[in-house]
Amino acid sequence: MSDKSPPPTRYRILAVDDERANLNLLRRTFHRDYDLGLAENGPSGLEYLKQHRVDMIITDQRMPGMTGLQMLVESLNINPQVVRLILTAYADVKDIIDSINQGQIYRYILKPWSPDELRVTVAKAFEHYRLEQENVQLIAQLRASLDELQLAQQELVLRERLSTIGRLASTIIHDLKLPMTNIRAGAALLASERLAPQRRKEFSDIILREVDRLTLMTREILEFSRGETNLVFEKFLFEDFLEDIAKDLQRDFDQAKVSLVKDWSKVGEFSGDKNRLRRAILNLAMNARDAMPEGGTLKIVCGKENANLIIRLDDSGPGFPQEILVKMFEPFVTAGKHNGTGLGMSIAKKIIEAHQGAIRAGNKPDGGARVDITLPVGTNA
Ligand SMILES: Nc1ncnc2c1ncn2[C@@H]1O[C@H](COP(=O)(O)OP(=O)(O)OP(=O)(O)O)[C@@H](O)[C@H]1O
Ligand SMILES: [Mg+2]
Repeated sequence: MSDKSPPPTRYRILAVDDERANLNLLRRTFHRDYDLGLAENGPSGLEYLKQHRVDMIITDQRMPGMTGLQMLVESLNINPQVVRLILTAYADVKDIIDSINQGQIYRYILKPWSPDELRVTVAKAFEHYRLEQENVQLIAQLRASLDELQLAQQELVLRERLSTIGRLASTIIHDLKLPMTNIRAGAALLASERLAPQRRKEFSDIILREVDRLTLMTREILEFSRGETNLVFEKFLFEDFLEDIAKDLQRDFDQAKVSLVKDWSKVGEFSGDKNRLRRAILNLAMNARDAMPEGGTLKIVCGKENANLIIRLDDSGPGFPQEILVKMFEPFVTAGKHNGTGLGMSIAKKIIEAHQGAIRAGNKPDGGARVDITLPVGTNA
């Protein structure tokens, strides 16, 4: 909007009159302030218009061959922007009024005219002309800006949609990792011919269970894409739930030389979305394992305090990296991992908060990471 094209240094007037004396008078009146073109009849005036940039035509009405009015109407085809003034005797005014009303001519000047008056009229006409030109320019700029804005907005909407899809895809991939690993391991073990029937059943159970989980997750993804997040509440014994998680983790932790210390008593019944809570705790446990590539200990403590379940995960790793200490729950915050998506903690937080609970994380004085979860047992059944 800011780059206004500079106004022309001088306006150019084309004066048309069949009388030499009149042309001379016009020249004397205007040559100091304007560039001038002179023509002695309509056709040569139009010819001049074709070849020069002209801002105003001042023409006599009565000329042999072509009248001033005819020439002005014709000139519209060559340059519609030009300001048109006509010098006329009173007797011809009525012929001209129509053209003025149709916007073809700016105004008429009665003969005989005084140079001073004509100068003022011309200056006013140019002011009007300038404003009109500016308006045209402003409207064009406005239209261009509107177009630009509309394009930018369309792009924004598209980008927003793509980024939501991208984020959704990352969440899905994040949550698919563990079941996939378990299914893969189970299937590989099943292939062994010397497998005792009981072990075979165990591995096939693992695969079935994980496939069920995947099915559940696909349902969740569907819900999410429809804008819903419906928790599926069920009542379960929390200590059994933790025990199941521990069992799921065991093989993986054994491999990673991480020992799992279970410290919970009978905390009783809890009502919540078991699958989602499981994912929250698994995400945290996986983080602890990742933080201890040389092995270590993850201690999971659970107890009851008033109407809350308190779950604490303490590990013997190096703790949260300093640079993410205040933002580890934000999505896509990851540090020190090759293939971390940075979603584990944020998913866990979402799940806990959906249960009206709270989650905090930080480092213990001795260095390891600590995550505390509070879940109200309350009346959310
Ligand atoms: N127990 C922990 N000890 C040390 N650092 C941790 C621990 N848990 C999380 N972190 C740090 O917090 C970051 C964020 O964890 P988060 O689970 O959100 O993402 P991620 O593990 O990097 O990727 P993913 O999406 O695969 O889980 C991790 O990259 C890691 O640097
Ligand atoms: Mg993680």
